[in-house]
Amino acid sequence: MTERWYKNGLIYEVGVRTYADSNGDGSGDLRGLAGRLDYLAALGVTCLWLLPFYPSPWRDDGYDVSDFYGVHSDLGTLGDFVQLVQAADDRGIRVIVDLVLNHTSDEHPWFQAARAGDPAFRDFYVWADRRPADAESGIVFPGVQKTTWTYDRKARRYYFHRFYDFEPDLNIDNPVVRAEMEKIIGFWAELGVSGFRMDAVPFLIEPAGARGLAPGPEFAHLHAFRQQLSWRHGDVILLGEANVEREEIGDYFGVGGLHMLFNFTVNQRLWLALAREDARPLARALAETAGIPASDQWANFLRNHDEIDLGRLADDERADVFAAFGPDPDMQLYERGIRRRLAPMLDGDRARLELAFSLLLTLPGTPVLYYGDEIGMGEDLSLRERESVRTPMQWTADRNGGFSTARQREFAAPIVSKGPFRYAEVNLADQQQDADSLLNWLHRALRARRQCPEIGEGGWETLPTGNASVLALRFRSGERETIAAHNLAATPRRPNLRLSGSAGALVDVFSDRPYEPAGERVELGPHGYRWLQVRA
Ligand code: NOJ
Repeated sequence: MTERWYKNGLIYEVGVRTYADSNGDGSGDLRGLAGRLDYLAALGVTCLWLLPFYPSPWRDDGYDVSDFYGVHSDLGTLGDFVQLVQAADDRGIRVIVDLVLNHTSDEHPWFQAARAGDPAFRDFYVWADRRPADAESGIVFPGVQKTTWTYDRKARRYYFHRFYDFEPDLNIDNPVVRAEMEKIIGFWAELGVSGFRMDAVPFLIEPAGARGLAPGPEFAHLHAFRQQLSWRHGDVILLGEANVEREEIGDYFGVGGLHMLFNFTVNQRLWLALAREDARPLARALAETAGIPASDQWANFLRNHDEIDLGRLADDERADVFAAFGPDPDMQLYERGIRRRLAPMLDGDRARLELAFSLLLTLPGTPVLYYGDEIGMGEDLSLRERESVRTPMQWTADRNGGFSTARQREFAAPIVSKGPFRYAEVNLADQQQDADSLLNWLHRALRARRQCPEIGEGGWETLPTGNASVLALRFRSGERETIAAHNLAATPRRPNLRLSGSAGALVDVFSDRPYEPAGERVELGPHGYRWLQVRA
């Protein structure tokens, strides 16, 4: 199924700069990452998502791009990039890259030319002679960002920026800008990428007239990107970052032409469900995001490089998630998100970590894993904003955690060296040696997931469980059928899943042994999970 490769497998999100340093300069690099491909292939990774690695002043973790056609000199060269793509391909791993088209860095030559009044570039950005009245609305980063329109002394005008003031928005309504965007997409597609994680899609497709308002029905530009790819590179996908209302989802997949979207609705409600030990919010989120076209797919995640965005929860719901997973104000961001990693949020509790990962692997869609979460890495709250969750990968208990041979003060980001999640305590090498480690459990879980392709490809339904704490989903594809049941409560449950409706014998996928339900009931331990496959 190469043309639908994104319907199954494991996407691994990695910050190149904090993964593995091959040349001892303190910055992770593409060659360092290439050196870890065997580990990633063995884990079961089928697709790498590289966070931005382009030339950049690096004030927004590389999302402030100053050259769309290169590699940041600390991270390597274009040659290293091509070598990485080829080496990954040798191991059956695809590569998708971040595509940041909403804005550039203010150091990008286009912006420099535009503000100097060069007529060829002025309309690459969005300008106003006077400060627009709505300049304080539509701010994405409250607290760190005061406005969406900033005065530029050189241009003597205001420019629009959805995000930080050093990230001026590109004017996608300008056909010359769109031609540049298509060139960028074409360039990386020719270099062999299998897809693009499109940054900030809702803002990208806003028509200029609606700046500061909700996205309009202007999906034509997005669709043009999809068409461009379809003609030349049929299996290259667009994975959109769009945290939008459910009514809008259809347009992003349909007219917009995105192949995948991150399921932010499910992510927020998953955390709510875990906080309340109540599966119903998650079941509702799944129902709300069901029914997407068969060729499209959700990308599910627990954590990523940003804060967990709880912006779509009601106040009391958000309060419950904060109380459970980020009670300290320092753990919160913009009063609506949590800037922590998975393992500390769950107190390093193994049963809850397994529950969370087991859910991730059995939600309708394709799972996305954030680097370091496979070993239960922690965060560093002394770092600014979202930097807390972007610390170096912890490879070993040795000096520098095996990340780099440089002196620690030269590191691109400090490594976690204190507290219960320090690299001496939490690292890959130790977990590889230990058959009972989280890493080796995840290996087994991912192997089990590969035995159930119907989870990614098939249709699914929620089974009534008669129990608010239990989520049970049935996946079917052709003759294949799997039921995944999860108990979110800290006490055991015995839901009635009416298993007699399934034609065939039940096999517990993890143990690969026949499963005999007690009557119709399935035993689930505290925070327990069970995947049952129906075999003829
Ligand atoms: C979304 C990215 O995930 C985030 O890290 C970044 O700050 C904004 N887009 C702006 O590019």
